[in-house]
Amino acid sequence: MRDAVPQNRERKVNHFLGIKIEARHRNLFSLIKKNSGRLILAAGCSLMISAATTAMGYLIKPVIDDIFVNRNTQGLLLLPLLVIAVFLVKGLGSYGQEYFMNYVGEDIIRRLRNQLYDRIQDLSLAFFQKERTGTLMSRITNDVNVLKSMVSTAVTSSLRDASTVIGLSAVILYQNWRMAILAFIVLPAAFWPVFVLGRKVRRVSTGCQQAMAELNTFLHETFAGNKIVKAFGMEAHEKRRFFEKTRRLFNLEIKGVIIQALSSPVMEFFGGLGIAFVIWYGGSEVIAGKTTAGTFMSFLACVLLLYDPVKKLSRLNNSIQRGLSAADRVFDIIETASDITDPQVPLPLENTSHDLRFEKVSFSYGDHDVLKNVDLCVNPGEVLALVGMSGGGKSTLANLIPRFYDVTGGSILIDGTDIRQFRVADLRKQIAIVTQEPILFNETVRDNIAYGHIQATEAQIVAAAEAAFAHDFILGFEKGYDTRIGELGGRLSGGEKQRLCIARALIKDAPILILDEATASLDSEAEAVVQKALENLMHGRTTIVIAHRLSTIANADQIAVIVAGRIVETGTHESLLAQGGEYHKLYTMQYAASGKTAAKG
Ligand SMILES: Nc1ncnc2c1ncn2[C@@H]1O[C@H](COP(=O)(O)OP(=O)(O)OP(=O)(O)O)[C@@H](O)[C@H]1O
Ligand SMILES: [Mg+2]
Repeated sequence: MRDAVPQNRERKVNHFLGIKIEARHRNLFSLIKKNSGRLILAAGCSLMISAATTAMGYLIKPVIDDIFVNRNTQGLLLLPLLVIAVFLVKGLGSYGQEYFMNYVGEDIIRRLRNQLYDRIQDLSLAFFQKERTGTLMSRITNDVNVLKSMVSTAVTSSLRDASTVIGLSAVILYQNWRMAILAFIVLPAAFWPVFVLGRKVRRVSTGCQQAMAELNTFLHETFAGNKIVKAFGMEAHEKRRFFEKTRRLFNLEIKGVIIQALSSPVMEFFGGLGIAFVIWYGGSEVIAGKTTAGTFMSFLACVLLLYDPVKKLSRLNNSIQRGLSAADRVFDIIETASDITDPQVPLPLENTSHDLRFEKVSFSYGDHDVLKNVDLCVNPGEVLALVGMSGGGKSTLANLIPRFYDVTGGSILIDGTDIRQFRVADLRKQIAIVTQEPILFNETVRDNIAYGHIQATEAQIVAAAEAAFAHDFILGFEKGYDTRIGELGGRLSGGEKQRLCIARALIKDAPILILDEATASLDSEAEAVVQKALENLMHGRTTIVIAHRLSTIANADQIAVIVAGRIVETGTHESLLAQGGEYHKLYTMQYAASGKTAAKG
């Protein structure tokens, strides 16, 4: 019954430059391909940068040999102009590369985010219950960012850096191949400690990110749940835990600072050693007259210019690996198939009153059996009340009707047709529901009510609010119907929230109504009033009411008692009382607790 996340299924794997490329990443390539024009421009700009960098390294030779050594006045005019041209080309290239690459990256992010949201929004409730909200959010916010940086490093920066390295190496070899070969042996050794430090930095920064994420979760929990912290007098305890977390973060950060602070001097020192070697060897060649001062200086400049692209290339594989694992997480979701699907040939569902039947329905969450062999029948326009102990499976049963979950055995029928034969959207259009947890969105009160019927007129909204006895308290807000739920903060009481939810369900005006403890947070007086409104509403609608307070369901056409997932009794209030079974037991318990007649009150 779970949505299938294709984690372990066979994947076609190709190898490209030692990097694993899976068939499923083709989706990513198709996103990249959509931008191929801009990518080619970005690549052209990259080549401009590397050509300019190479030219810069090369130009040092004529500058020194022609101007300073040979005192060539013509060169004095020409070379500065050339330098200006080179810098202009480099500047234009940099701008173009940055612009086009980021454009492509942002475009990919946007498309992936939209694909993800489009996919996630259509997945079944089971998926949302299994995945943590925070995890899903980080797919849409963080993982796509990692992908963007992979695309920009992998595609153009690598082109720029590789061609720069090739260009500069060619210049070095051309200037003095003996010195070049020596440098290719000595310099990597000099850069080595820097790479080692770089790896350490990465490890520490991952630790910092984790500690930071932990800190965020902690803050969220202790602020959101502050009422409980106070009620249990745990302020000092939470403070201690927080101080402990900031201390850990501090230690990690300082470790990072030490490595970071070390890496620059270490790099300079070892780089200095390498350069000292080049100076010693090159100098001796210049003195021996085997090479010119200009050649030597150009050589030295090229070696210095090589540092940056080599460093970036060495990180390439790393960023591609990180990017591909983010791609995996993203495509795991994009490729997830919802288990609640429309039939091949959907049957039409008229917007009239319906009868509703459960035939031998069983249901389990994974291997936790909740409903067993449930048979129920509600005639058009009648009210079925479900009662029973907490955890008996009442909400679960109600959740099966709009196909939030599919039955694992038996079937649910509307007008004699299995609900799986209708289009899911058509089915849900027939059902208005007030869930056990009142969930409102951070929009205006008006928008929250109109959620049940987006085109509702102002008069309809007010009428629904009045019927749910919400109108008066809404007018009590400073901005009335224009108040945003978020502005109220925690101000709405449980009962007020429930009444807004009832108004939202009322305005939907659907032939099947499900009320799961819709009035549980109201006091008896308010409940009695809202109950009247609900009873008006129930007229002509097939209704399932779930209630703990038996007083609210005494008028139901039929009452079913659920115990541990089984229907143990059905009947009317009177017949069940007379039967002296489960219902009688529940009733007398409530009667004893309240000390007055619980039903028909
Ligand atoms: N998403 C879920 N995944 C796994 N088990 C669940 C899930 N939702 C509910 N259950 C389990 O199913 C059983 C029935 O839960 P359900 O919410 O249907 O009970 P209920 O009769 O509505 O109880 P209450 O009167 O307290 O609302 C419980 O044992 C509960 O732990
Ligand atoms: Mg429930």
